[in-house]
Amino acid sequence: MPSSTHASATSDSVQVSSLLEIHDLHVSFRTRDGDVHAVEGAELSVDRGSTLGIVGESGSGKSVTALTVMGLTRFPNATISGEIIFEGTDLVKLPNNQMQSVRGKRIAMIFQDPLSSLHPLFKIGWQIVEAIQAHEDVSKATARKRAIEALREVGIPSPEKRIDSYPHELSGGMRQRAMIAMALVLKPDVLIADEPTTALDVTVQAQILDLIRRLKDEYQTAIVMITHDLGVIAELADEVAVMYAGRVMERTSRERLFTVPELPYTWGLMRSIPRLDAPRPGRLDSIAGLPPSLIHLPSGCPFHPRCPYVMDVCLKVEPKLEQSEPGHLVACHLQVEERRRLGRELVSQHGSRSDER
Ligand SMILES: Nc1ncnc2c1ncn2[C@@H]1O[C@H](COP(=O)(O)OP(=O)(O)OP(=O)(O)O)[C@@H](O)[C@H]1O
Ligand SMILES: [Mg+2]
Repeated sequence: MPSSTHASATSDSVQVSSLLEIHDLHVSFRTRDGDVHAVEGAELSVDRGSTLGIVGESGSGKSVTALTVMGLTRFPNATISGEIIFEGTDLVKLPNNQMQSVRGKRIAMIFQDPLSSLHPLFKIGWQIVEAIQAHEDVSKATARKRAIEALREVGIPSPEKRIDSYPHELSGGMRQRAMIAMALVLKPDVLIADEPTTALDVTVQAQILDLIRRLKDEYQTAIVMITHDLGVIAELADEVAVMYAGRVMERTSRERLFTVPELPYTWGLMRSIPRLDAPRPGRLDSIAGLPPSLIHLPSGCPFHPRCPYVMDVCLKVEPKLEQSEPGHLVACHLQVEERRRLGRELVSQHGSRSDER
């Protein structure tokens, strides 16, 4: 059942601020080679019962953004600034001991590799029971019942038996489900899913996406779906943020993104949307050139060395994320009319492929 927080928020439709809002987030790591600017001024938000998709190539700062929300980038070599407002509290400033009660219970994360969050030496049931007991004052027996229920909910057959399996005894898809069960057992307000399906085959992938969609509808969970696959975004996201070089460079609704995308980088990603009858590529490779070094960024727009539409200004001035129209933010120096014309053109050329989906 939805918790009372969920219920009150869903009936309160006049609420203006989002459940989770990220403003001007910067995360950098000092390394021997220099400072890695992993996240630079990210602006994001997500509401209850809604899915924010974050898409971008490898190294664009998606995971670092998510891990920072969870308070998991507080390394001695990290510098973090900006705001992560969750229900009025700034998580960037929240002390570690208070962060622990948010993590898992209020905001949960599914990691790309289930083995990195499931301990290999402990039975999955024990791990879920531990997670429950870390946050709630319940008996082991009650926690175990809840764990079995959670495993059942994510579609694991005979959960009363599987609860005593070790992670390596489960298939990749089942492990992913077990991790999702662990993330869901506490009915978090926000679920961050970092590439939850990349390692899985297409059928299991579809089942996991279905499960996440159901969660959002049944519990009004706010979902942050991180992926480098625009196909996943097309299936799941309500709002989309396109990240490049640690920056959010385009942000809009899914409908708008797939009708009038306004960013040359987004167009590059779109050309790489795989057909449903072909396997999805693990990495995007259709944009010429490589993502920039986050230690020595190019001047001006970080995408300029790879952009087919580069102009003089792009070499000198970094474009700000600005409103192109209500609900559509873009960081690009191209003229708005030109961007829209090119975006629409790309969508119409690409239409034959999308129609086959
Ligand atoms: N602890 C760290 N110390 C130094 N650099 C780091 C650290 N964590 C991440 N980075 C760097 O930050 C950048 C952003 O990494 P991040 O993991 O957020 O990318 P991503 O968008 O999630 O990519 P992928 O699609 O491959 O998962 C990368 O260049 C990465 O090497
Ligand atoms: Mg990542």
